[in-house]
Amino acid sequence: MNKTKILFVCLGNICRSPLANEVLQDLVNRANLQDAFEIDSCGIGAWHIGHLPDIRMRKEAKKHGLNLTHRARQIAKEDFAHYDLILAMDKANLSDLMRLCPAQYRAKIKLFRTFDLAADDNAEVPDPYYGGDEGFSNVYQMVERSCIELLRQHS
Ligand code: 4NP
Repeated sequence: MNKTKILFVCLGNICRSPLANEVLQDLVNRANLQDAFEIDSCGIGAWHIGHLPDIRMRKEAKKHGLNLTHRARQIAKEDFAHYDLILAMDKANLSDLMRLCPAQYRAKIKLFRTFDLAADDNAEVPDPYYGGDEGFSNVYQMVERSCIELLRQHS
């Protein structure tokens, strides 16, 4: 079977996109659809390459029973050909991806929260990095809603 390959992208790959990666992977595992999906995440920037997710994001994920063990990596040219769906957390990530992406693959790139049934099509997952703990729980709620709908539409 051809796998649906999904790549989540944020700025640092230590908060939003590794969470989305794990939330979707967990939903896929629970639905026994592991063979149907390939899921990964990456960042636009290079600052955190090799790092585990931010401790605040890991603590929030843990409250929901998820362990974040992803190691940050930066987007690579080959990602645009490889993945079917490339999901940006915010509009800055979206425009960076559009700039980096070869023209023939640009239709693969979308704002992740277009899958959030509680939000309009321009909604973003805001960067929680410089804010307080409530920013991280807010990110979790948006990510979970969006992943549920994403999986519903692709399974
Ligand atoms: P993320 O959050 O894009 O959700 O991983 C950030 C993490 C680090 C930085 C910015 C955003 N930073 O500037 O180092």
